[in-house]
Formats: sequence, C-alpha cells, structure tokens
Amino acid sequence: MTGQLENLDVKERIERKFEKLFTNVYENAEIASKKIAAEIADLIREKNGKGKKCVLGLATGSSPIGVYRELVRMHREEGLSFKNVITFNLDEYYPMPKDHVQSYWYFMHEHLFDHVDIPEENVHIPDGTISENKVYDFCQDYEMAIRDAGGIDLQILGIGRTGHIGFNEPGSGINSPTRLVTLDSLTIADAAGDFYSEENVPRKAITMGVGTIMPSRRIILMAWGEKKAAIVKKAIEGPVVDSVPATYLQQHPNTEIVLDKEAAADLVRFRTPWLVREVQWDDKLIRRATIWLCEKLDKPILKLTNRDYNDNSLGDMVVKHGPAYDINLKVFNMLQKSITGWPGGKPNADDSQRPERAFPYPKRVLVFSPRPDDDMLAMGGTINRLVEQGHDVYVAYQTSGNIAVADDVVLRFLYFSENIAENHNIDLEKIHKVLAIKKPGEIDFPEVRNLKALIREAEARSACRFLNIPEEHISFLRMPFYETGTIKKASLKEEDINRIVEVLRGVKPHQIYAAGDLTDPHGTHRKCFDAIVKALHIVRKDDWLADCRVWLYHGTWKEWHIADVDMAVPVSPEELKKKRAAIFRHSSQKEVMFPGSEDMEIWRYAIERNRDTAKDYDKLGMAEYEAIELFVEYVL
Ligand code: F6R
Repeated sequence: MTGQLENLDVKERIERKFEKLFTNVYENAEIASKKIAAEIADLIREKNGKGKKCVLGLATGSSPIGVYRELVRMHREEGLSFKNVITFNLDEYYPMPKDHVQSYWYFMHEHLFDHVDIPEENVHIPDGTISENKVYDFCQDYEMAIRDAGGIDLQILGIGRTGHIGFNEPGSGINSPTRLVTLDSLTIADAAGDFYSEENVPRKAITMGVGTIMPSRRIILMAWGEKKAAIVKKAIEGPVVDSVPATYLQQHPNTEIVLDKEAAADLVRFRTPWLVREVQWDDKLIRRATIWLCEKLDKPILKLTNRDYNDNSLGDMVVKHGPAYDINLKVFNMLQKSITGWPGGKPNADDSQRPERAFPYPKRVLVFSPRPDDDMLAMGGTINRLVEQGHDVYVAYQTSGNIAVADDVVLRFLYFSENIAENHNIDLEKIHKVLAIKKPGEIDFPEVRNLKALIREAEARSACRFLNIPEEHISFLRMPFYETGTIKKASLKEEDINRIVEVLRGVKPHQIYAAGDLTDPHGTHRKCFDAIVKALHIVRKDDWLADCRVWLYHGTWKEWHIADVDMAVPVSPEELKKKRAAIFRHSSQKEVMFPGSEDMEIWRYAIERNRDTAKDYDKLGMAEYEAIELFVEYVL
C-alpha cells in the first residue's frame, strides 16, 4: 500500500477501498501529462537549488510523449534547464541500432534530448548494439551507474497490456535485475504497427529489472485510453502476482498512478460506483447496475429477484426504485426500445418509443469512417439497411489508411497498372525501384504512399458500390495529420478540421455516424473523432444542425458496453453475409490480424463481435438475433 492513500479523508478512502495504489484520474491525457511534467520540473529546480543532480528514470512509448512535449516547452519558454539532470532509460529493443527510427535511443532524442540542454554524457539508454556475450557485463554496469548517480529520484513508467513495466513481462520476479528478456507475444503484436508487421519486431530487449525500478524514491505510472482500462484495473485492484508485474508497485512506498478517464473506467469507483458510495439512481445507472447484476449472476433481466439485488449491494436501488419486478420491467423495456431494424427512423410510425425519429424521411445520412474499411467493419449491416430503407447515404473517408497496405499489394497493383494505358501520372518505374531497396519498417516515399492510398480508395469505392451507395456520395478527405508515413501521427491542424467542415456543409446531414471510440491503438480514431467534434463546433450555428443527430459506433478493437447503448441494430444472417462481402472488398486488409491474436483476422473478429453481441442480448432475455451492431448517441 502506497503512502498517499492513508492521507486521504475517510470518504475518499471508502470510495477507493478496492484500490491498492494511490491513483489520480484526470479529464484527459494532456492535462495529466502537464501535471506530471510540472512535478518533474519542480524536482529538477529543487535539486538544482541545492546544487544537486536530479536522477530521472525515463520511459518510451506513446504514454510519456505529452510529458516530454511539456518539458520541452518549459525548457523553451520558462528556461527550465536540464544541465543538472541525469537520466536512465528503462529499456531498448535488442538487437537495435541507435539510428533506427524505432529505437528507443532515437525516440528519446526525437522527443526530449535533442530539444533540451541535457549534457549527452548524462544520458543513459540500454545499448541495443552490443554483442550478446557482453550483455551481462553491460547490465551490471548499468545498475552500477544508477547506484553511482545516487539512485533514481523519480521513475516514470507506462504499462503494457501484459502488465509489464519496462519490459518486465509476466513471470518477472520482484527482484529481477537489469537483463536481456524475451518479449511477450502481446507486446510484439502491440509493437507490430510501429514496425509495419510482427516479423520486423525484435524478439528481445534489454530492460531495467523490477528490482532495479523498485528502489526509486518516487514512481509515477501513467496510462491513457480504454485499451489500458483492463490491465490498469488488475494493477491497481488485483492481488500482487508475477503474472502482472505492475502489481509489484503495490509494495512500493511512494508510487502514484496517473490516468485519464478512459484508462480509469474499469476501476470499481467508476464502473460500479454503487459498491463504494451512495449514488443518485437515474435511468442510465439503474440500467447499468441491472445489466451488471445479470452478467454477474448469469441470469436474464426478468428473472432477477429482490434477493439477487439485495445480496449484491443493490438494496438501496430496490428500496428507492423497486421492487425487483418494477426495475426488471423498466430495464427490459429500455433495452427493447433501443433495438430497431430502422436505424434511420421508421417513416409513418409512432416514434415516441424508438431511438430515431420518423421524419424527415428520407434522411441525408453522413457516415464518417476514420480509415477506408472502418465503416463496413463496424456498421456494414446498418449502412445496408439505411440504403435499402431509402435514405441518402454519404460516406466520408477521413484518412487515406495508406500505411496499412503491404508492399506486395502495391506490386500486384503495379503489375495491373502497367498493363493499362493511363495511370494517375505515377512514376511506376520509381516505385519499382524504391520498393526493391526498401528495408522493413522504413518510411515510404510519397509516391508509394499515394499509390497505397489509391488502392484503399479503390477498395472503399468497390464496397460502397456493392451496397448501392452512389459514387458521388463518397469523399476521401485524406486528412493531413495522418500523412506522416509512420504510425506516429501529427497533431490536428486547421486543414484537417476544415475538410470535415466542408463535407458537413456539403451534405447537411440529418444523421451522422462516426467512430466514437478512443481505443484505437494508434490514436487515429481518437484524432478523427476530435476533428469531428471541433468541426461540429464550427458549424454549431448552421440551421441544418438543429435537425441532426450524431450516432457513434465503436472501432473494431472493442464494442460498446450494452449498458451504455442507445441504438442496437439487428443484422440477419443474410445481411451478415452481405456485410462480410462488403468487408472483403477491402482485399488489401484481408490478412490483417487482430492485435494480440495469432489466428483471428480483423474482418473475422468484426463479424464474430456482432454475433457475440447478439448472444449477449439473448442472455439478457431479449430476442435472439444472428448479429447486432451497436451505437451510442452523442448529444450535441
Ligand atoms: C517503454 C516501456 C514500456 C511501455 C509500455 C506502454 O520504455 O518500458 O513498458 O511503457 O509498453 O507503452 P505505450 O506507452 O506505448 O502504451
């Protein structure tokens, strides 16, 4: 148990009674990163004031980027000096040359060291270039260097989905030293995007051990986004186990966990707040608690009894809104009303009990798709219904999706293009040449990227054609933030948002569908959604917006929780086949695997997810469908 927990007042301690690590949750990663950077800066200044060195343990990966950005800003604008700072990085891939774009050496210089005044000799990063027979001595020296520097004052950490800290994968002991380790297959899958494919990810790394990290005088672990929620819960609320090395931090006296709302979402105080405090029961919370109880007891809604509620900490809800019979009916009806085969509204029908309004009919429907296949993967069945029910469906593909196209696909298309007359003024010979000398993981030439984008556009057009979406309703926004040629994306600029504004004003939609999840491992969905929110703000006074509703689908990585869903669209067996055929039009993506899985392609996962959702509704006692697609309303 870490120190700060005991300093909280009683109310807060009750709320956090399942948490074994002191945890602070912020509105978003940006605010949280600034807090961490401020603490680091204070420490550097304090040590400097005393004429002492400040020893920092540093992490790489997506999590600390915002912290480094803020430190660089403080250096530039506030004169924060790093002259007295000594750093030790947690890890480095092995083998790995320093100048490789994916090396942690490169990462640290790109994000921090090249922009501040730290003396190069104060920087320590495990060396991915030494020969294997020297690794042991190297690790020994690394630990000695930390000790000689006086130990680490402040260690910052991210957390992998395996629960690793540094590259201490499941199975690492609490006393493990700095050493050469083999990466977990989930870690390799998570890194595959950075290296363009799993085969290019180094299998090993040199990492500081848990036993090297634990003596740090203070530790801050940060995690952002839904995809970390499950492992964060285990790290904070679970028992100390070697299968989740981050749980060792529970035995450290001065560790703080810093999260954004999404990463904190599975903690008891957020997911099931009724277990730790008195709550105000509104309809949404009643629905959430009831569905939680069904899942816990594996019972359908209408079979829950007063006893079930009382025995599972929901007595207060029964007293205020019960008996069980009333609550069951209420939640059953709420779910029933959210299920509709008419996602665009049913014309001429009473719409008071339906998720969408009947009129106007037909509606102009604008579907935003972050990458060219997200629309079909997430809502192919719903798009099919919208078109068949007579609505004017438009699709705007937000990014080109070009980095997900393998070189071999380009070669296939090249062969084809060479055999047709005109070809977009593309220098085919050059593309042949650059692909022939390209090394794995290297950034593509703009010409190759353009060709990859065209391949994805051709596929998206084909899928739309298959579902009878008119050619002139399709737009490819090629948002500039995406076009870095690497997994790391640029920040959103005015031009990105303007392209969305233009399509919104062109279509004046009655319904907008957008990817509203924040789970996408590469942050593309998050940025695409942010851009839509910003664009909607710009058009907020346009007349058409008053008669427009926004529905969010979830990316392939995860589905909405039924308790949060506002519209559930059933997909029949025939429609599911059609959806699969539409997804297959994206042939360059057919072999892309679901992250962390060895035998599940993304398309298969998308279909199975829809089937599983239908099974979940069935288990709750709702009608049994083949598959279901889910949407949450985004209130404007
Ligand atoms: C990086 C490191 C890793 C990462 C972890 C999370 O130096 O040691 O433990 O902190 O894999 O990675 P991101 O932040 O990319 O999700």
